[in-house]
Amino acid sequence: MVAKVIDGKAFAADVRARVAAHVARLKEEKGIVPGLAVVLVGEDPASQVYVRNKHASTIEVGMASFEHRLPAGTGEAELLALIDRLNGDPAVHGILVQLPLPGHLNSELVINRIDPAKDVDGFHISNVGLLGTGQKSMVPCTPLGCLMMLRDHHGTLAGLNAVVVGRSNIVGKPMAQLLLGDSCTVTIAHSRTKDLAAVCRGADILVAAVGRPEMITGEMVKPGATVIDVGINRIERDGKAKLVGDVHYESAAAVAGAITPVPGGVGPMTIACLLANTLTACCRANG
Ligand code: GUN
Repeated sequence: MVAKVIDGKAFAADVRARVAAHVARLKEEKGIVPGLAVVLVGEDPASQVYVRNKHASTIEVGMASFEHRLPAGTGEAELLALIDRLNGDPAVHGILVQLPLPGHLNSELVINRIDPAKDVDGFHISNVGLLGTGQKSMVPCTPLGCLMMLRDHHGTLAGLNAVVVGRSNIVGKPMAQLLLGDSCTVTIAHSRTKDLAAVCRGADILVAAVGRPEMITGEMVKPGATVIDVGINRIERDGKAKLVGDVHYESAAAVAGAITPVPGGVGPMTIACLLANTLTACCRANG
């Protein structure tokens, strides 16, 4: 079998186009411009790239983008005061604090200071609880993007066996909640899982979010399964820098029914879903 390649780049472009059309309508009919504030503390190079991309995409769909770049030594009180200001600013509908924060800052405290209604990352403990109990919440962008591609490919996910490899708060756990919400039978596997290969081979849907380059190989994939690769790992091969996922693409694509590539799979969907969440927050704020 040769797997169908799920084109996240094209899918994300479609989501962004739909968001842009809705933003244009909001502007024309109600004079409302959705606004996204992104806060970056420090100079982590990967974070700087993400924040730049978020800014460009936000502008591209017609939203207002507010960037706040703070020095690495910024104190907690100063950061919390900025979040308080953004919480109270009616032009800001979404707030994202880029993670990881420098070590001296308490991420949980900072994230939980964001107004849950403006928490477009879906990381606030209230949104985590709402998602876990199947209530209306802000949903973390990466798992939401994965779910959208899975629904598009499968139609209904009900009854399928889903294995999520990775138990992070950002991807693994919310991904499992979303799949459960769509009536999958869900297993969360991780670094301590016994016979990971056998667990993965039981999956109709296999989501890899472990952060280890090419760890999921073809022999861990059930023939015909859908493989979603959340990993973005920079490695060096044959003296060249290369971007690879958590899935060994060639061997997995030879067995799977469908697979997301890296780059061009899950990655572009994350920012598209951030924009969609910002639009959702704006619409909820304006009744
Ligand atoms: N760092 C890596 N991924 C993310 C994300 O989805 N949101 C935030 N805020 N920071 C991140």
